[in-house]
Amino acid sequence: MKVIEERRTKTIEIQKVFNRMNLVPDSLKDAGFKNFKERTGTEKSFELAKEFYRNFENVEMGYLFYGGTGAGKSHLCRAIQRSLDADGYPTLFLDWVKLSDLARASISDKNINIHAIVRAAIEVDLLVLDDIGAGHLTDYEYKTVAFPIINGRQGKKTLYTSNLDPERLEQWFSADKDGKPLDEDGRCIDRIIGSCKFVRNKATSMRRERARAQMIE
Ligand SMILES: Nc1ncnc2c1ncn2[C@@H]1O[C@H](COP(=O)(O)OP(=O)(O)OP(=O)(O)O)[C@@H](O)[C@H]1O
Ligand SMILES: [Mg+2]
Repeated sequence: MKVIEERRTKTIEIQKVFNRMNLVPDSLKDAGFKNFKERTGTEKSFELAKEFYRNFENVEMGYLFYGGTGAGKSHLCRAIQRSLDADGYPTLFLDWVKLSDLARASISDKNINIHAIVRAAIEVDLLVLDDIGAGHLTDYEYKTVAFPIINGRQGKKTLYTSNLDPERLEQWFSADKDGKPLDEDGRCIDRIIGSCKFVRNKATSMRRERARAQMIE
């Protein structure tokens, strides 16, 4: 009972910080298991995602789902996060691009408390860090957001999605767009490898499939 109350308090505190920030893309707001269509190439990720949710208390490793764009990686992570949220677990779904925009904006906007966001991201029972590896990492984002979160999540369950395979993700962490070293020693990727299994989603783009279905011939 006490555990459930503590969870609820934590969830409410976290929601207070995040409610006004729009860190989930609109296209994923309603993504769930029920509206996930089984498509070729998604079988493995779908099974693992359902199993991860069902067995959340006992699983020890998270996942890093990688693969082509529109394949349903974020949809499945959002499905897990929403389901756990509905069950009362403190969870967060953070889009990397929005998070890094916030980190940069926080330099001049004192209303954005990036450290509170990072703290919450570390604290929740489940964190989804969506689209890691998008754009270029900067020294500021690496030091303020990427490393603290990934380091702080050790021993906790985290789901990542990325378009980059493990080698390219390691390169992404290692230098900024001008080649200036960031995470030269591979500390981030090492921590991710230590706490997540890498799963490739081989599906083609659902966005393109939808667009094709709507094309007027
Ligand atoms: N199998 C599916 N069933 C239902 N909707 C899907 C499925 N796969 C993807 N979608 C929908 O298509 C859109 C794109 O999917 P999603 O964002 O999950 O792709 P992604 O693999 O994360 O792509 P990206 O690498 O570009 O981030 C979303 O609106 C998502 O809800
Ligand atoms: Mg995605």
